[in-house]
Amino acid sequence: MARNKIALVGAGMIGGTLAHLAAMKEMGDVVLFDIAEGMPAGKALDLSQSGPVEGFDANLKGTTDYADIAGADVVIVTAGVPRKPGMSRDDLLGINLKVMKAVGEGIKANCPDAFVICITNPLDAMVWALREFSGLPHNKVVGMAGVLDSARFRHFLADEFGVSMEDVTAFVLGGHGDTMVPILEYSTVAGIPVPDLIKMGWSTQEKMDAIVARTRSGGGEIVKLLGNGSAYYAPATSAIQMAEAYLKDKKRVLPCAAYLEGQYGVDGLYVGVPIVIGAGGVERIVEIELNDEAKKGFQVSVDAVEELLEACKGLDSSLA
Ligand code: LMR
Repeated sequence: MARNKIALVGAGMIGGTLAHLAAMKEMGDVVLFDIAEGMPAGKALDLSQSGPVEGFDANLKGTTDYADIAGADVVIVTAGVPRKPGMSRDDLLGINLKVMKAVGEGIKANCPDAFVICITNPLDAMVWALREFSGLPHNKVVGMAGVLDSARFRHFLADEFGVSMEDVTAFVLGGHGDTMVPILEYSTVAGIPVPDLIKMGWSTQEKMDAIVARTRSGGGEIVKLLGNGSAYYAPATSAIQMAEAYLKDKKRVLPCAAYLEGQYGVDGLYVGVPIVIGAGGVERIVEIELNDEAKKGFQVSVDAVEELLEACKGLDSSLA
C-alpha cells in the first residue's frame, strides 16, 4: 500500500513540529515546503536523521518548489508570519493574506484533492481566503483553532479540578480571536457538566469565569512569554489530530473553523463549531443548542469574523 503524503506549507516552528509528529506517528511521507532557500531541506534532513533513533519509517523532503507537494493527501498550512507581543492576530491580515494567495494557488495547481488544514492567522479570515484562492470544495478546507482553544480550556479546567486532562471535555466555539466562546455548560469532568460541579462545591463560578478569560487570551499569553513568536507545540498536535481523523476516517467530533451555510444562523463564513472529520473531510456540522448567553457571545464572535472578511475583500479585489 502506498504511503500517504503530507505536505506542510511553512517550515517554521509549527511546520517543523508537525513534520516531527507526522514522522513519529508514521502518518506518511512528509514534504516540508518553505520559500526560505535551504531551511526546509535542512529541517527535513535533521528530522530524517532522528529516524534511526526513533525507529520511524517516513521519507522527509524539504523543498522550495510547490511542484513537490503534488498529490498530497493532506496539506497543513502554517505559512505567514506570527504576531509579536502587543499585536493582535488581526494585525497580520494584510501580510498573511498575500501569503495565502500564493499558497492557495500552489495547492490548486498541485493537489486539488487534498484535505487542507489552515493554521495561519487571523485564522477565520485566512482559512476563508485560502479556500477562495485554492478553489477546493468547502468540506476539504478547514481551520485549526477550536481544537487548540479547547485543549487550552481543558488544560485549565483539569488543573482547577485536580483531575486527569483525559477526563475533561470542553468546547470553544466562534472565531479564533479575543471574542472566542468557551462553553462552560457543555464542559464536563467524566461526563458531569461543569455547572453541576460548581453546585457540588468542587469549584466556583468566579474561578470558572477566570478560566474562560484565560482561555480567550491563551495565545496572547504565550506570545508574551515567548517574546518572539507564538505557540507551536499545541497548535501542531491539534492539527495532527485533525489530519489523523481524515486519513484514518476516524469520524472524530472536533471543534474547527468550518464553512457554514445557514447552520448556527451563519452563511458564507468560516467559524469555529463542532464538526465530524472523516475520509469525506468535513462530514457533518454539529449544531448544538446554545443558551442565550452563549448565543450572544457567538454572535459577537461571528460579527468580528465578518468584519475581517470585509477587510480581506478590500485588500484583494479578486476576493470581492
Ligand atoms: C495561538 O492561539 O496560539 C495562535 O493563534 C497564535 C497567536 O498569535 O496567538
